[in-house]
Amino acid sequence: MPLKLMLVAGARPNFMKVAPLLWEIQRRDNVDALLVHTGQHYDEKMSQQFFTELNIPRPDENLEVGSGSHAVQTAEVMKRFEPVLQSHKPDAVVVVGDVNSTLACALTAVKLGVPVAHVEAGLRSFDRSMPEEVNRILTDAISTWLFVSEPSGAANLRAENVPGERVHFAGNVMIDTLIACTARIAQSTVLDRLAVKPREYAVLTMHRPANVDRPEVFAGLMRAIARLQRELPFVFPVHPRTRQALGQGEALPNLLFTEPLGYLDFMKLVGDARFVLTDSGGVQEETTYLGVPCLTMRENTERPVTVAQGTNRLVGLDPGKIVAEGLHALAGCSARHVVPELWDGQAARRILDVLTPHVNRPAHEPVHSLDAR
Ligand code: UD1
Ligand code: UDP
Repeated sequence: MPLKLMLVAGARPNFMKVAPLLWEIQRRDNVDALLVHTGQHYDEKMSQQFFTELNIPRPDENLEVGSGSHAVQTAEVMKRFEPVLQSHKPDAVVVVGDVNSTLACALTAVKLGVPVAHVEAGLRSFDRSMPEEVNRILTDAISTWLFVSEPSGAANLRAENVPGERVHFAGNVMIDTLIACTARIAQSTVLDRLAVKPREYAVLTMHRPANVDRPEVFAGLMRAIARLQRELPFVFPVHPRTRQALGQGEALPNLLFTEPLGYLDFMKLVGDARFVLTDSGGVQEETTYLGVPCLTMRENTERPVTVAQGTNRLVGLDPGKIVAEGLHALAGCSARHVVPELWDGQAARRILDVLTPHVNRPAHEPVHSLDAR
């Protein structure tokens, strides 16, 4: 009997993480995948367009939870996921990232005795006011297999006394997707459609509650952006949370608002940008892989390899500092960078290599344990 893995995706950053796992499972005949979409993100531009572009099969189940407070959303996912687990009886559940759906499904599975694999484990911002940090800590605490994307993930888990045999340095599934889509990204016509030229514009993304839900912070960030867009056009695909904060704010001549973009257009824009200004988790990694300067509007990052080895700089939330860093990036003072270890397009393969022999019994001898390296 092939192994039955149930993969969970709920929000935008999950889709480009489950895609390479599903592609890899399709290549193997000893493992079957079931896909559950929790419905945490549901707008066509936050969900369906990634299924189409990334060739993700239609979900076997859609829990359609929609939006809500943290407690309501997490609880709804749990309530609706439990009967799905009971009816499909998977051998293991695979969750990715750090969104509410990640924790909710992991918790529901372990309570039913179904072991959980967490992809992108061990990342820590050490800032528990960030909702994702709580989701990361709790998901890691209850997962059987912890797949880390960068060395800090393994170090953080070791510091939390997680047994080494549960931790596997697999690499970065999001970069698997980026590598797999390179040729199609190159064909995107988005620059022409937006009338911008390579290296003559910046990309802006912003959606963290700490930045957009606090009016005084958001106003300061927008002041910094207003100053910087006098120097070069900014393309700003607006996240639904940020749309609410923007309201009827005044238009700026060089700030080009768009809907949330499809993956291929977005990665084309990022790859050809002079620099990126963001508070996204995934974008810090994609810019590092692509060698594009990234200014992150946060005081901390759970992805320190992007700062230590990549192109990422933490610029905080102070408008004056953001303007100074933006002008510096514009002057072309780009830093030396390397692509982090195992961000090589093979992360999904390593993950399946670990799960396939071990999924029905405890993981005693990890294939890619950091300790074994
Ligand atoms: C969520 C994740 C965050 C991730 C982000 C990626 C949690 C706690 N947060 O944040 O880690 O970085 O996704 O994009 O899981 N909305 C829509 N349409 C949609 C989805 C949301 O209009 O398709 C609006 C709703 O008003 C909703 C708000 O956006 O209340 C926030 O959505 P939610 O999923 O709660 O959190 P995100 O900010 O998207
Ligand atoms: N992304 C996209 N279109 C956009 C913005 C983002 O395709 O308009 C992709 C991009 O690959 C990014 C991922 O969605 O890394 C997740 O983005 P988001 O910032 O929503 O989530 P986070 O990584 O902060 O959790």
